[in-house]
Amino acid sequence: MKIKKAVIPAAGLGTRVLPASKAMPKEMLSIVDKPAIQYIVEEAARSGIEDILIITSRGKTTVEDHFDRSPELEQRLLAAGKTELYEEMVRISNLANITYMRQKETKGLGHAILCAKSFVGDEPFAVLYGDDVIMGENPVCRQLCDAYEEHGLGVVGIKEVTPEQIKKYSSMKVEHLSGRQFSITDMVEKPATMEEAFSLYSILGRCVLPASIFEILEQIPYGVGGELQLTDAMKVLARREGMIGVDFDGKRYDMGSKLGILEAIVETGLAHPETGEAFRAYLKGIAATL
Ligand code: UTP
Repeated sequence: MKIKKAVIPAAGLGTRVLPASKAMPKEMLSIVDKPAIQYIVEEAARSGIEDILIITSRGKTTVEDHFDRSPELEQRLLAAGKTELYEEMVRISNLANITYMRQKETKGLGHAILCAKSFVGDEPFAVLYGDDVIMGENPVCRQLCDAYEEHGLGVVGIKEVTPEQIKKYSSMKVEHLSGRQFSITDMVEKPATMEEAFSLYSILGRCVLPASIFEILEQIPYGVGGELQLTDAMKVLARREGMIGVDFDGKRYDMGSKLGILEAIVETGLAHPETGEAFRAYLKGIAATL
């Protein structure tokens, strides 16, 4: 079955990047000249996704404005002969059919996904976490959709992380299938010790889920941090019917963390046609003094 719908949860409070995220959604933080969430919407569009639901919350209307038309700005750019920039602004508003829904209380990622129930209906759908930007030639959302279409099972994007990181993330019970694919039969959210962890493979930022996840989310109790955890629901799914893990090809930046933001900006700045050369020279100068 072709995956046509995606949900981007972007309603979190972003407490790890305060005060930047106090009045500005962390999903709108800029990587050189483009807000993080635009990279994510572009990845979904490049993956063949047609309909996107962005879950927002109070104070996040800039996300909606960003993907809307901007007549005054467009007129000004046209009048000034800045045709390329004008076309780029129009392109942003035509990336996909985007709708929005408010998560009225930030009760966790699982709760945010549950808000998407009526949008999704009974089709499988992709989830792209609003603060996880993943760069690469082959869009990661597409890599996961391909695995779903091949196996007909829920799919998670996974990567090996360090023993320090695994305690803050989720840990997967994996068995290698072939290439980049693994079978996943169990998982644990934020394992307190290495003994509790199954492996160093963790879910990072992307998954493709069957609509049966909603019925699971409606039944499970609130978990770590008093939040409805998506991982807890995926654990039920993995134990019940198995899931597929894809050790995806792509570089992930955690835009919900200060270091992740810096890494994304430095690498994108180096690759950017306008800033690359000068920024490289600048960085070399700085590096020499470190
Ligand atoms: P995070 O746990 O990274 O986001 O959720 P957070 O709660 O904003 O983070 P901190 O710990 O306070 O810094 C991953 C994604 O899920 C969304 C976030 O916006 C982020 O994109 N999310 C999280 C929701 O949409 N709703 C929630 O209730 C929680």
